[in-house]
Parts: sequence; structure tokens; C-alpha cells
Amino acid sequence: MAQLEARNGLAGLRVLLGVSGGIAAYKACELVRRLREAGAEVRVVLTENAARFVTPLTFQALSGQPVRSGLWDEAAEAAMGHLELAHWAQHIVIAPASADLVARLAHGFADDLLTTLCLASTAPLAIAPAMNLRMWAHAATQANVATLRGRGAAFLGPGEGRMAEAESGLGRLLEPHQIVAELAALRGPKALTGKRVLVSAGPTYEDIDPVRFIGNRSSGRMGFAVAQAAMEQGASVELVAGPVHLQTPAGVARVDVRSARDMREAVLARAQHSDIYIGAAAVGDFRPHEVAAHKLKKTGGALTLSLNENPDILAAVAALKQRPYVVGFAAETQNIEGYARAKLERKKLDLIAANKVGEGEGFDACQNEILLISRDGAERLARADKLALARQLVERIAEKYADWESSNGNRKDTGRARSKARAPRRTRMRGK
Ligand code: CTP
Repeated sequence: MAQLEARNGLAGLRVLLGVSGGIAAYKACELVRRLREAGAEVRVVLTENAARFVTPLTFQALSGQPVRSGLWDEAAEAAMGHLELAHWAQHIVIAPASADLVARLAHGFADDLLTTLCLASTAPLAIAPAMNLRMWAHAATQANVATLRGRGAAFLGPGEGRMAEAESGLGRLLEPHQIVAELAALRGPKALTGKRVLVSAGPTYEDIDPVRFIGNRSSGRMGFAVAQAAMEQGASVELVAGPVHLQTPAGVARVDVRSARDMREAVLARAQHSDIYIGAAAVGDFRPHEVAAHKLKKTGGALTLSLNENPDILAAVAALKQRPYVVGFAAETQNIEGYARAKLERKKLDLIAANKVGEGEGFDACQNEILLISRDGAERLARADKLALARQLVERIAEKYADWESSNGNRKDTGRARSKARAPRRTRMRGK
């Protein structure tokens, strides 16, 4: 399925793959294979250091094309000059990109073949970094990343996990299949161009006193992935986030909130001007009746907290006169479809994405499964990591939104120009 999607976006694409020095360079071999399987034509350029990790011959055999490394290779220049190669490329992908290469690209260096090609080409640039976690987190690297993003470069990853030095953190090269999927998403048709998508994500915290709060185990990953997927589909995305430890997806405007009432205020201030609202936050249902001004002290007995119910944000958005297309989530431990359908009706939603939580599922898990329910049917989205799942979900939302928008054509306009862009019609939801 993922392979098929990748093939759709990448068939016939001329990819210039730049490989820089680092232990992750070996993964670029697998990347060449997967890009070719997806239908792309690949030419590899190695930096001098990359050639210390993997031989040009390996890449030559895998790509079926001559591999270039230096600027001063007369035979290679005679076959295809470097400016010709820069012109040949329809997309430049750099994987792995070392901290040094990211810095040189950010500063416009042209001191080797790869950086020269990047300057000489007008092809879009996708960078998959791989470096030690502290090098990635360093302010210098982050400033270089921001510079490159500002110029339109896309960063694929880095991922999180174990690294070569037996440390763990952010800085790992994405797996080759993830790089191919991300590239396919960058190249794919954009179903939400000109649309405004509002997403809520993460938990909410309700203060008990200055040091304690009631929270929940939502990581915010699903909502952040949904925001990224909507952005990839060309939408302008606002993300209202509860307290989470996640990087904001590039190009997404983020507003941080803490409590359910803060989140409600931030969402309602934006909802009327949005085309689609996706409520992926795990909003706390209750808050303490009162927040103690000072830290509560033990008294040797039980502490009784009186809780009030929080307002329902999703239902409030769905009840607006000029309302966006409203998508909710339902995190359930049992009777998933029954409870989710009841929520769809009770909150007057257009669509609900139901998933199972508990026992390694849902909140903290990296993989997930969704049952997507609307009034006219239900559809199961394939189990996948949260970003892949979010991409499937956003594709379906775009299709359903296009139908909804055309049948709501007479609703009052919010005053801003509505794009005529429509999501491509794809599969219909299967009837239950
Ligand atoms: N939600 C919301 N505001 C709340 C509670 C929930 O907007 N105060 C939204 C969530 O963002 C999610 C959906 O409602 O999209 C369902 O959340 P869930 O916690 O599963 O449902 P509840 O409405 O809290 O119902 P219950 O606790 O009875 O399962």
C-alpha cells in the first residue's frame, strides 16, 4: 500500500541523491533501491567523506548509473557536466545530511560537487539529517535548519531512537521507506490548497494548586502528525497544542495552551475562520472546582477534590452558526464503533476517528489504527505509524470535506476568498 502510494508520486522522477559522510551512509544504499522500486531514476553524488563509508561502486551497482564525487573528474564531466547534472535533477534528496553539510548548504558554499549542484539547481531540496543528538539540538544547527527551511527546503526527519554511539535521541536518519514515503507526500497532489485547517492536539492540564495538576497520558503525536499531513496537502494550518514535548511541524502555526478552557478559547477564536476543525486533543473532562492559591499540605487524612465538568470544545465548534467541517476523535477502550457513533451524533460532528486506547495502544504508542465513521458509513484505515495514519486520515477528510463543501455551498461565507480547489475524488466510504 505504502509502496503503491510512493510509486504514484515518484514514477519517472529524476532524483539526485546526495550522500554525505556518516555511519548512516550505508542506509542510502537501501534508499537507492527503494527509490528505484518506486519508479524514480536515481543518480548518486557522494561527498568525499561519504566515499570513506560506502564505495562509489556499491552505489553505481544499485543505481545503474555512474556515481560522481569530485568536481574535477574529467571523464565524468565529459559524460555529463555538473551543470547538466544540476539541470537533470527534478528533486535533490540528501540522505544522510551531516551537520557539516547542513551548515555548508545554509551558507551557500560551493566547495565540492554536491554543494555546487545544490546551488546550481532549481530543483526542490529534501534533506534527511543524521547526526548526534547534541549536534542536531545545537543552536548553530537549528539556525541553519531554519535558514534552509526559510528557503523552501524540506526536512525529512530526523527520527528518534538509538544511535551509533549507543545514545538515544533525536538525530537518527529516517528509515529508507520513511524517506521514500515523505518524498512521495512532498510530490503528491495537494488536496487542501487554499484551505485553513485548525487542529487541536495533546492533553490539557487542570491545576489543583501551584505545583499539582490533573492531566492525561496524551503525547500529542497524533494531532501533530495530523497538522503535518494537512500542511503537506497544501493547507494553512493552525495547531492549538496542550502541554507536549514535540517539535512543531515546519510551516505550521502553533499556539500553546494549558487548560481545557484555554484550549476552548483559542479554538473558538479561530474556528469560524477555518474550513476544517480536527479535534485531536485529549481534553480533560473535569477540573478542580477551585485552584488553591498555595501548595496543599497533608493533613493526615484523605483529600477530597471537588471537580467541575469542562466545556466540550468539539460540540461548541459544531454548534457555531458559521461552522467549519468538524472532525472529532474518540479514544475508547471497548465498544469502539458504538461509542464513537454515539459521540458523532451527540456532538453533531461530520466525521469521527475512533481508536482503541490502553494496553500499548493509542496515547503513548507509535503505531495506531483508526475506524473512520460518518453518517453514511465506516472505513478502517490501515494500521501504521502515526504520521502514515495521519496522512491517510487527512486524505479522507479532504475528500469528505469537498463533498460537504459543495452541498453547503449556500452557507454564509466568512468573508475571505474561498479557493475553488477541490480534493481529488477517490474511493467512497464503504457502507457499514
Ligand atoms: N473533546 C472536546 N472537549 C471536551 C472533551 C472532548 O473537544 N471537553 C473532544 C476531543 O478532542 C475528541 C472528542 O471530543 O475529539 C472525544 O473525546 P473523548 O475524550 O473520547 O470523549 P468525551 O466527550 O470526553 O466522552 P467520554 O469521556 O464519555 O468518552
